[in-house]
Amino acid sequence: MTLSDLETVTAIEATAYPHPWTRGNFSDSLEAGYHCWVVECGGVTAGYTVVMIAAGEAHLLNLTVGGPMQRQGVGRELLNFVLKLARDYGAQRMLLEVRPSNTAARALYASAGFSEIAVRRDYYPSGAGREDAILLERVLH
Ligand SMILES: CC(C)(COP(=O)(O)OP(=O)(O)OC[C@H]1O[C@@H](n2cnc3c(N)ncnc32)[C@H](O)[C@@H]1OP(=O)(O)O)[C@@H](O)C(=O)NCCC(=O)NCCS
Repeated sequence: MTLSDLETVTAIEATAYPHPWTRGNFSDSLEAGYHCWVVECGGVTAGYTVVMIAAGEAHLLNLTVGGPMQRQGVGRELLNFVLKLARDYGAQRMLLEVRPSNTAARALYASAGFSEIAVRRDYYPSGAGREDAILLERVLH
C-alpha cells in the first residue's frame, strides 16, 4: 500500500464498516512504518491489510476485502500472508480485536487457529453506544 492507493482503500473501507478508518488512519499507518499491503485481482484492488509488528508481537489492525470480492478466498489468503509476514519478522504471536457481532471474521479467524483470550469492554463505537471487542491470539511457530 502506498499513498496512491488510499482513495481506493478508503472507498472500500467506507462500504465495509459502519465506523470506517479515515484516510488519516491509513496515512499514519504508512508513516509509522506498519506493514500495509493491498491485494489486487486482475488489476483491481480486492482488499488490504495493516499489521504492526514490534517486540516479538504482531497486531493485526485491519483486514478487509471489498464487498464484490468477498467469499472467494481472498480474506483467507491475506490472513495467511500476514501470518507468514509476522513470522518472518520474528513475531511469536499475533493479536487482533474483533466485534462479537462480526460472525464472518470470527469464523475466518477461528478456522485459522486464533483463540479468544480476553474481552475488551466498550472498545468499539456502535450505533447506540459501544460494543465490546474480543481479543484473539494466534501463537506463531
Ligand atoms: C471478514 C472478511 C475479511 C473475510 O474475507 P473473505 O474474502 O470474504 O473470506 P474468505 O472467502 O477467504 O473466507 C474465509 C472464511 O471466512 C469465513 N467467512 C467469510 N465470510 C463469511 C460469511 N459471510 N459468513 C460466515 N463465515 C464467513 C468462513 O469461515 C470462510 O471459510 P469457508 O469459505 O471455507 O467457509 C470479509 O468478510 C470482510 O472484509 N468483511 C468486512 C471487514 C471486516 O469485518 N474485517 C475484519 C475485521 S476484524
